[in-house]
Amino acid sequence: MKSLLIAVALTTSAAFALTAFVEAKDEAKVQAAKDVLPPGSVSAKAGLDAWTRIEAVVTHPRCANCHVDAAGIPMWTPAGENRTRVHGMNIHAGESRIGAETIACSTCHVTSTAPNEPAPAPLRAGIDWQLAPVEFLWFGKTGAEICEQLKDAKRNGGRDAAGLLEHLRHDASLNGFIPRAWNPESGRSTPPGTFEDHVKDVALWGAAGQPCPQ
Ligand code: HEC
Ligand code: HEC
Repeated sequence: MKSLLIAVALTTSAAFALTAFVEAKDEAKVQAAKDVLPPGSVSAKAGLDAWTRIEAVVTHPRCANCHVDAAGIPMWTPAGENRTRVHGMNIHAGESRIGAETIACSTCHVTSTAPNEPAPAPLRAGIDWQLAPVEFLWFGKTGAEICEQLKDAKRNGGRDAAGLLEHLRHDASLNGFIPRAWNPESGRSTPPGTFEDHVKDVALWGAAGQPCPQ
């Protein structure tokens, strides 16, 4: 009886979590549908200008430090230093990308929607802290390489132009990593513009047919 109750409780909480997740996804879909601009409504020139601004965001340490290679070593750009170096304390994300094999990232980077603390406190987010999947490698790549990769469904999680907007809105609805890059708390630099500017630029770039620098 007891185990049945536990099973029921577990199923119910899993269903709750799933419902919340599905709702966040639906909301993000609705929001992203409003962000999308009609294909062809933006010139290639304006699309390339938008890409220049997107590139400044995706190569910024607040984004690229997590989008690292299969070695699984996160990057650090400590406050007051302008050079990026490997994460201190011998942190290794492992194949799990969440540090399951050694120390879980969430030991220090807690899952919380509370604002970040000033540097050098570990950053936090509303979703569990982890490295981006290996295919989404940005760190050390040129802007032109990242551009090609961002529009390649095999290397961006199967997302078309609208799918990328949906990812931004979905992440924001969970208080995830992307909008928080503009609120890292004092001591840390932020990517240029705002999160909403970034969404607009991704929409402009998409409507122009995702042009990349040659
Ligand atoms: C804490 C680590 C972390 C940070 C910081 C981070 N990301 Fe990511 N990123 C991830 C993870 C994990 C995924 C995979 C999520 C998924 O596919 O659902 C991801 C996936 C993505 C994707 C979709 C896949 C792709 O490459 O096309 C985009 C776009 C993206 N991130 C943009 C950004 C931007 C822009 C920033 C900075 C403003 C940023 N990320 C900062 C961890 C991070
Ligand atoms: C022992 C505590 C600790 C653990 C465990 C830890 N981190 Fe960190 N991490 C920190 C601290 C502290 C900072 C902030 C350093 C600073 O900015 O001065 C940080 C910063 C980062 C940054 C830089 C973020 C930015 O915006 O530049 C990334 C990326 C990162 N950690 C990823 C990870 C990943 C991935 C894991 C798990 C594999 C992990 N960390 C595990 C303490 C930790």
